Amino acid sequence: MVVFISDIKRLYSDRAGKMRKSVIRELLKVTQDPEIISFAGGLPNPKSFPIEDLEGVIDFVLENKGREALQYGTTQGYIHLREAISERVAKDGIEANEDDVIITSGSQQALDTVGKIFLNPGDTALVGLPTYLGGINAFRSYESNLEGIPLDGEGMRVDLLEEKIKELLKQDILPKFIYVVPTFQNPAGVIMPEKRRKKLIDIANEYDLVILEDDPYGKLRYDSSPVKPIKAFDDEGRVIYMSTFSKILSPGFRLAWTVASPELTRKMVICKQALDLCTNTFTQYLANEFMRRGSLDLHIMKICEIYKPKRDLMMKYMEEYFPEEYVCHKPKGGMFAWVTLPEGIDTETMFLDSIKEKVAYVHGKAFHVDGHGERSMRLNFSYSTDEKIKEGMYRLGNVIKKKIEKTKSLL
Ligand SMILES: Cc1ncc(COP(=O)(O)O)c(C=O)c1O
Repeated sequence: MVVFISDIKRLYSDRAGKMRKSVIRELLKVTQDPEIISFAGGLPNPKSFPIEDLEGVIDFVLENKGREALQYGTTQGYIHLREAISERVAKDGIEANEDDVIITSGSQQALDTVGKIFLNPGDTALVGLPTYLGGINAFRSYESNLEGIPLDGEGMRVDLLEEKIKELLKQDILPKFIYVVPTFQNPAGVIMPEKRRKKLIDIANEYDLVILEDDPYGKLRYDSSPVKPIKAFDDEGRVIYMSTFSKILSPGFRLAWTVASPELTRKMVICKQALDLCTNTFTQYLANEFMRRGSLDLHIMKICEIYKPKRDLMMKYMEEYFPEEYVCHKPKGGMFAWVTLPEGIDTETMFLDSIKEKVAYVHGKAFHVDGHGERSMRLNFSYSTDEKIKEGMYRLGNVIKKKIEKTKSLL
């Protein structure tokens, strides 16, 4: 190819210059090697995809609604799917009608949209330590400053959140929103109890802040009772709730939804018009028909039946093969186990050792906006076969043991 522009980068906007590659996307490239056992990606198990059921749904949609389903749709999304979503979230205590729902091209698009709407360069948003990397990347692409709030076994520490808000206000900084993944958090796997959810709402009300509640894993529940979404306690329209079909049906559909106040919904729809005009119409019709047949909840039950034993296997082999010093609280749902190793271990550098042993994970720093998390790693248990979970944990255990021995010998 002939290149006429000598230094294309000088033409980039400041924003583009500051965009960073996603560590996970880069890792996933390394883990394409079929010999590598990867616990790195956040991938659903392909065995869970309801291929046969979808064959019937596809035939039905093409036969009966093909001309609409293959056409452009409205930016806000297919009305019957929005109705179905508003009925679905009502069961979780969220009061909404179809006008409060937007069907987005994945939750990732919703995260980007929120960033675009709220964040001027230099603005501050509050996120968990750790938090979802895709959220960090979306908000940073708007040149924002992200302040981290530590998590404990019950999610974001709301006492520290309030302290941080006060500290920022003293410097005349009003954070724009609080980003939380309260249920089976990615990456830490923890669930925030109802009391803390209500406290979070109280804080947002008191300091007049928006909460961005990201809930892809809420239905992947193995041994905890259901907890209402934060949005269910929102009387002031300050929570933007989002969830997705990615983990409960298919990420390839690229379908997710937001539920927000009319004003915020209007703004997000305008923003989305410039992004993609509309979400994939065909998959919206498919998801709607799948739900109309009552298949979604049955399917979620099947997914949980696949993932729970995988979670248990990972925990079992962790106990068997990892050195005593690791800490990992059994996640009660979701797709991830979060492991913390002893002082002195850096999981980022250890990654090279683990790739040599053909096993992969995501290092903890990737999820920390403050540069910490060096002792942690995220392991996905949904994707690998049972045999690979066993073998991968064995390999990883050896990598960690060697690293600990090496670190001790240097002291
Ligand atoms: C917390 C969280 N938010 C958003 C997403 C993006 O989901 P989607 O596939 O709907 O874009 C993910 C995907 O892993 C996630 O873990």
